[in-house]
Amino acid sequence: MNVKAKVSVIAFPGTEIISKNVSKELNACSVMPDIHRFPDGEIRVSVAPDKIGEKVIVVCSLDHPDRVILPLLFTVETLREFGAGEIILVAPYLAYMRQDKRFSEGEGISARYFARLLSAYLDVLITIDPHLHRIESLGDIFSIPSYVIHAAPAVADWIKNNVDKPLLIGPDSESEQWVKGLGQKSNIPFIVLEKTRHGDRKVEVTVPELEHWQDNTPVLFDDIISTGKTMLETATHLKKSGLKEPVCIGIHGVFSDNAYRDLLAAGIARVVTTNTIPHASNAIDMSFSISNELKRILHT
Ligand code: R5P
Repeated sequence: MNVKAKVSVIAFPGTEIISKNVSKELNACSVMPDIHRFPDGEIRVSVAPDKIGEKVIVVCSLDHPDRVILPLLFTVETLREFGAGEIILVAPYLAYMRQDKRFSEGEGISARYFARLLSAYLDVLITIDPHLHRIESLGDIFSIPSYVIHAAPAVADWIKNNVDKPLLIGPDSESEQWVKGLGQKSNIPFIVLEKTRHGDRKVEVTVPELEHWQDNTPVLFDDIISTGKTMLETATHLKKSGLKEPVCIGIHGVFSDNAYRDLLAAGIARVVTTNTIPHASNAIDMSFSISNELKRILHT
C-alpha cells in the first residue's frame, strides 16, 4: 500500500541549502521539481508522485519573478493533481512589493496583483521581511494566511560576531523599521538618513554631521540591495565624512546589473546578505528561522 508522507518539501533551484535544512529539521522528504524547458521556451513540470505528502512545503524564492512564477504555479497545480492537501509556499524573498501604490496615473499596483495571483493558488505563505511600506501588512493584500519572519535577530548575531563598535545606518525612511528595531533590541546606536529617488538607478542621500562617530564602524542596513545605488551613494558620503570603511548588509541581495562588483570596487569593507536569494555575499543563514516558523505553524 502506498502511504502518503505527512510532510514533504519541494525545493526550487537556488533553495538547496534552506530546503535541505528545513527538511532535516522537519524530518520530511525533499525533492526538486523537474522543470523541462522545450525548444520553444514552454515548460513541462513533473514531480515524483511518491514524494508528495499530505502537506507540501514549496520553497521557492521569487527574485526575478517573471522567470519563476509559471514554473511555480504549474508545480502547484501538478502537486494538487497528485493529492497534495495543504500547500505552503516558503518564499524567502517576496517580489513585487515595492510597486505598492500608483505613483503616476495609469500605473498598475503590482504588489496587489501578485498577492492576488499567489493567493489563488496557495494555502499559506511564509516569507522573510517583505518590503512593507505603504502597504502595512501582508493581510491587506493576501487572502490566504501569511506569516513574516524577521531577519533582525540573525543579522544582530552576525554584527556582534563580526563588527567592532558598529553604528547602524539606514539609508532612507523606508529602512527605519529594520534599523530602529535592530538597534533598539541589540543596543547598537543607529541613525536614519534621507533619500530621494530620481529614477531606477539614480538616488540622492542626505547625510548629517557624523563627526563624533569616527571611531565606529558604519553598518549600512537595508532590506533590499538591487542596483546597489542606495548603498553606493550612502557609502560615498560616509567616506567623505571621514568615517571608517562601511560594512553593507542587505536582507535580500537581488544585485541587478553589476551591483555587487561596483559595491566592492567602491571600497566597501564587506557586502553581506542573508541567504533568501543565493549569492556569493550570503553570510547569514535563515534556514533555522524558517524551520522554527514551520514547526510552529504545522503544530498549531
Ligand atoms: C527601497 O526603498 C528599498 O528599501 C531599498 O532601499 C531599495 O530597493 C534599494 O534599491 P537600489 O539598490 O536599487 O538602490
